Amino acid sequence: MSKKEEDIVIKSPTRDLFAFSKLVPQRKKRIEKASSEPITSDPMNELASKLHPRNQQLVIKEIRDETKSAKTFKLVPDPDSNTKEVAYFRAGQYLSLKVRLNDVVITRPYSLSSSPTDALNGFYEITVRKDDEGFLTPYIWDNWKVGTKIVSSEPSGHFYYDNLRDLKNIIGIGGGSGITPFRSMAKEIADGKLDINLTIIYGSSEEDDIIFYDELKELEKEYPDKVKVIIVLSCDEVTLEGCEQGFITANIIKKYVDINTSSFFICGPQIMYDFIEKEMDQFKLPRKRVRQEVYGEVKDVLNLPNFPKEVAEKTFKIKVQIGNQTKEIPAIATETVLVALERANLAPPSVCRSGECGLCRSLLINGDLYVSPIIDGRREADKKFNFFHPCSSYPITNLEIKIPRSI
Ligand code: FES
Repeated sequence: MSKKEEDIVIKSPTRDLFAFSKLVPQRKKRIEKASSEPITSDPMNELASKLHPRNQQLVIKEIRDETKSAKTFKLVPDPDSNTKEVAYFRAGQYLSLKVRLNDVVITRPYSLSSSPTDALNGFYEITVRKDDEGFLTPYIWDNWKVGTKIVSSEPSGHFYYDNLRDLKNIIGIGGGSGITPFRSMAKEIADGKLDINLTIIYGSSEEDDIIFYDELKELEKEYPDKVKVIIVLSCDEVTLEGCEQGFITANIIKKYVDINTSSFFICGPQIMYDFIEKEMDQFKLPRKRVRQEVYGEVKDVLNLPNFPKEVAEKTFKIKVQIGNQTKEIPAIATETVLVALERANLAPPSVCRSGECGLCRSLLINGDLYVSPIIDGRREADKKFNFFHPCSSYPITNLEIKIPRSI
């Protein structure tokens, strides 16, 4: 057979069928040759549980003051636990921390401020900004010390660069502690593991509130083609050289970036999302070009469209089925069903608290809920068959629900 003829045969479908007909005898031969000893290792499942541990037992190794109101906590595996290494992640993801507070276990998502390469080197960092009116951060401030043990979820969330989805020019718009995922991305660029061009537009109230200022400016100097940092200060007097004054407006964004060749990542407090969303409306960008980090439960449900204000002062009863037990608990109309369940120590699993991860998905048997339209992550089938997310739903009548057990 000439070379040309051989090529034709190899490419023909007959050749494919011939190979296929050999599959079974070849498989049989391999089975016969294989050891009859039981298989004691399972590398695929081992890798899966390293990447997606159900829980991670961590301990605080170091605490750094970043600004007067922000601290970075370095977390390593707790040597007294089964966690031997921290799970790898993608720059921009968060950990959901499980904290016992006044005998109630609550969860809160915190973006990782360290890089994925740091995880390979054995540690995570989270950076927490104190909010005096917040529920958890005052507790963290007063109680977390070096040596404090912490339980976290696996790294979670979709707020990371994906070359199939995002353009290579990433504009990271951050406010307050919303700088954390962008620090992680900038560090990963410096580590040579993330090939994007990152422009960070970072809004802060005052100069001494800017988290990671020196570090980000250093990265900008070292990687001028890859990392740019624009600081926007909202205070009246601005003395810091090269920064903008006011809020992050459409004009400021347009001044520094090419809107048409960029994907936008936004992370900050809810008030910033509301403001930026209106500013960016004029860009008329397709939805896929704008990504928002989850920010936990909506703070002021009374301001959401169509919330029935007449129930705002009311407390309802929820009949909760969990396994084969049923309990009745009180629930305030302006707090999510998840908060009511946590107060009663009945909380289902939760990670994002923003209607996104689906872990808290529960069944509504009776009654009416108000679902926050800005964090309604239910699938169409969920809506049809009465499934809801307790983290993004509020009771507006007495309810009967069925929830999954916590893991
Ligand atoms: S905790 Fe993620 S959807 Fe409720």
